[in-house]
Amino acid sequence: MGTMGAGAITLKHGYAGPSPLPIEFAPNQLFKPLGKPVTAIVAGAGNRGNVYSSYAKKFPSELKIVGFAEPIPFRSERFARNYEIAPERQFKTWEDIFKVEKFADAVIITTPDHLHYGPAMSALKMGYDLLLEKPIAQSWKQCSEIMNLAISKDRIIAICHVLRYAPFFRKIKEVVDSGALGRLISIQLMEPVQNVHMSHSFVRGNWRNSRESNPMLLAKSCHDLDLLTWYTGKHCTKVASFGALTWFKKENAPPGSSKRCMDGCTVEANCPYSALKIYYRNRTWLHHMDLPAEGDQGPAILEYLKSGPYGRCVFHCDNDVVDHQVVSMEFEGQITANFNMEAHTIYAGRRIRVMGSEGDLVGDEQNLEISNFKTRKTQRWNVNEQAASASGHGGGDYELVSAFVQAVSQHDPALLSTTIDKAMESHLIAFRAEEARAQGSVKSVGAAR
Ligand SMILES: NC(=O)c1ccc[n+]([C@@H]2O[C@H](COP(=O)([O-])OP(=O)(O)OC[C@H]3O[C@@H](n4cnc5c(N)ncnc54)[C@H](O)[C@@H]3O)[C@@H](O)[C@H]2O)c1
Repeated sequence: MGTMGAGAITLKHGYAGPSPLPIEFAPNQLFKPLGKPVTAIVAGAGNRGNVYSSYAKKFPSELKIVGFAEPIPFRSERFARNYEIAPERQFKTWEDIFKVEKFADAVIITTPDHLHYGPAMSALKMGYDLLLEKPIAQSWKQCSEIMNLAISKDRIIAICHVLRYAPFFRKIKEVVDSGALGRLISIQLMEPVQNVHMSHSFVRGNWRNSRESNPMLLAKSCHDLDLLTWYTGKHCTKVASFGALTWFKKENAPPGSSKRCMDGCTVEANCPYSALKIYYRNRTWLHHMDLPAEGDQGPAILEYLKSGPYGRCVFHCDNDVVDHQVVSMEFEGQITANFNMEAHTIYAGRRIRVMGSEGDLVGDEQNLEISNFKTRKTQRWNVNEQAASASGHGGGDYELVSAFVQAVSQHDPALLSTTIDKAMESHLIAFRAEEARAQGSVKSVGAAR
């Protein structure tokens, strides 16, 4: 199999077995045909709000979007048009949704990180079920309040830890739970964020500043911590963490650079982070810009780059989130786990190794190899491309919505693998890891409830 991209794990030495088996899953037998679509209101019609809502376009018998709140007129008009929302159900801000009587089954909360707590609490008070984007909220206290309110109101909250629904990550769970690796001993997980993704989201963009959004571990890597809690099935007992913002700061600005890429920067042509190259010449990472759907988008992109956040030099932003971080964890039963978040990679796609008493597993979001120590045999799996490309996050985005509409319609949280109580475990690790990093100490974690 060799390697996949620059830093890929080298999967098994000289493996020359049969072609890999496709990783795919049969439909969930507990899912029932819906008598009528689940109705939902979207708070925040930005990128994620549109991703989840697009499920309603594809599967109108399962989900119907009946209202939304969005302050940006361009997004609001586009969303109202796409989903044919009645004028009285179009709101400017999330608070407005809750000023009228309950008019849907659920609220999809896809507002920025600092605006999760407010709409979640208001929606629960009014009896809505929630599809709530990760991270749950900005502090442990807020997360606990949301969970406790959901319990007292008997409401369902699905947290958008979409990776649990993606075939690659589900297969790993199946393998670990099957006992094929024997007793689980240890896990290594790495998230190569990819350098341009880092620059877009965590240097120039929405998640650059921990006070405005969250520390990197919550904003990005709560997915990874969630996978670790899922695979181990245990509480984390102790955590230590190190990490820093090392590269994307002003002392590393090259001579000749300017504060914005279009302000006469003399090194722009050779800079990997040139905004002109990323957004204008390559036309990538445009999903947080409101661009005309038709015709040449070029002039609008240049306008954004002239004055907006994405035109800033990556060495002259108001970012403070780390660009590399390690987290070492001990789980119950002496299981150890290590997680690395790395901005400085040309490749993306998580790398994972799971070590058990009877065998090991190596994977990189496409390929999986599972080896047995007694037989010395290696089984090889490969993500079914169709399943992976069915929606974002390796197919996880739509699988999550599918499970959510079932859970709401059957009023059964057991149909979800990402209920809030499960997500709390990863959030507790993230909050403790950040304390450990700040204090240079080891922190106890324990049960999240
Ligand atoms: N599950 C995942 O893998 C994943 C991936 C990306 C982002 N996210 C999370 O999803 C959330 C949204 O991210 P995004 O990329 O869609 O961001 P976005 O900026 O594209 O969308 C957020 C939208 O909320 C709107 N908004 C702002 N204030 C509002 C208010 N008062 N009332 C209603 N709407 C308001 C914004 O105008 C914007 O359109 C974030 O919490 C983010 O961390 C999750």
